[in-house]
Amino acid sequence: MSDFYVLLGPPGAGKGTQAEIVSGRCGIPHVSSGNIFRENLQNDTPLGQKARDYMEKGELVPDDITIGMVQDRLQQADCKNGALLDGFPRTPDQAEALEQFLLSIDARIVCVPFIDVDDQELIERLSGRWTCKQEGHVFHMKYKPPKEPGICDIDGSELYQRKDDKKETVEQRIRVYTKQTAPLIKFYDRKGLLKRINGSLPIEKVTQELMNVINC
Ligand code: AP5
Repeated sequence: MSDFYVLLGPPGAGKGTQAEIVSGRCGIPHVSSGNIFRENLQNDTPLGQKARDYMEKGELVPDDITIGMVQDRLQQADCKNGALLDGFPRTPDQAEALEQFLLSIDARIVCVPFIDVDDQELIERLSGRWTCKQEGHVFHMKYKPPKEPGICDIDGSELYQRKDDKKETVEQRIRVYTKQTAPLIKFYDRKGLLKRINGSLPIEKVTQELMNVINC
């Protein structure tokens, strides 16, 4: 049976940052729905064109588009033994679809770490975030500065500020999260899968807490 992990948390909680570290340490693929959408946006694919407006407004891309896209990704060979999901599921319908899909491939969710951070800190984190163009590695001008300003330490590509990291869009993303995604906290808690992580700690401490619950 293959083991899947779902990272839950508001925009800017550190899901992408932690997923990259944990996936490297545990040797499991990091599947980020946001990164898949951004790749499609950059390449101007039909999927990217469908998602663009929603993303720029800080809204969720409709479930029928998102669920199919993530299921296609999870059927790739590298996810045969499991994956660390970041940004999916984000609605109750996505969570139900994920359960059905995992059942159909004889897989399971092992745990759902919920990275909790308060709203004020989320805004500070997102307004100082710089993202790499090539693979989506993330930096922060204060908390995780790149060695050379404007350049990704890992692949040398240019860093940019995401359009949806503008203050008004971040506030909208937090509202959308509270309304559409936060109900999943209770959903996974009832199943005994939720593990609360204090996301306000420094990056390395959050990683330690996560490694304790993921236990790979
Ligand atoms: P997505 O890319 O998933 O965005 P998000 O969930 O809003 O999450 P972020 O990527 O903004 O934040 P993060 O938690 O990964 O934080 P990060 O590690 O970067 O989605 C974007 C859009 O795509 C959505 O709005 C929607 O339109 C669409 N979409 C995606 N998935 C979808 C789905 N399932 N359904 C429908 N639509 C979907 O960290 C943030 C910053 O903080 C960085 O600068 C980092 O260096 C810094 N930082 C991290 N941890 C710490 C720490 N402990 N201390 C100090 N600084 C820290």
